[in-house]
Amino acid sequence: MCQCESRDLDKIDAIVARIGTDATKAIPVLQEIQKEFRYIPLRAIERIAATTAMTESQLYGVATFYSQFRLAPVGEKIIKVCHGTACHVGGAEGLTEALEARLGIRDGETTADMKYTLESVACLGCCSLAPVVMVGDRTYGKLDRKKVVQILDDLEGGG
Ligand code: FES
Repeated sequence: MCQCESRDLDKIDAIVARIGTDATKAIPVLQEIQKEFRYIPLRAIERIAATTAMTESQLYGVATFYSQFRLAPVGEKIIKVCHGTACHVGGAEGLTEALEARLGIRDGETTADMKYTLESVACLGCCSLAPVVMVGDRTYGKLDRKKVVQILDDLEGGG
């Protein structure tokens, strides 16, 4: 087993030790695993099942039932382009196209350097700022193709 793999197992074990080992803890344990790895790795499900009362099928069932959980790796920053009605009318399609061109990926994909994941989402709840994009935890409004690319340029420039 490589060192990084063993460190990952230590992190998983520490989360389980902190939160608990019975089946009622499946959701909080998986939430913490996702916080740590940004998704739920298969090895985490196997490890939890091997060290607790939770089974792989229970854990997998929870992870696939709730949309908050991701079973595939994502980038350091998730770019959410709102495609709700107000943002759609305001040009969300063009924002997605501009970001696809800037990042060299398609909607739903992650860049090869694992920095960004691009995804379309439903209304983000701030329609008066349409069209809206979230980059990580930050919300940007009243965007156009040029402005949305500028956000990434600024981030890359350390801004
Ligand atoms: S439709 Fe985009 S924030 Fe509501």
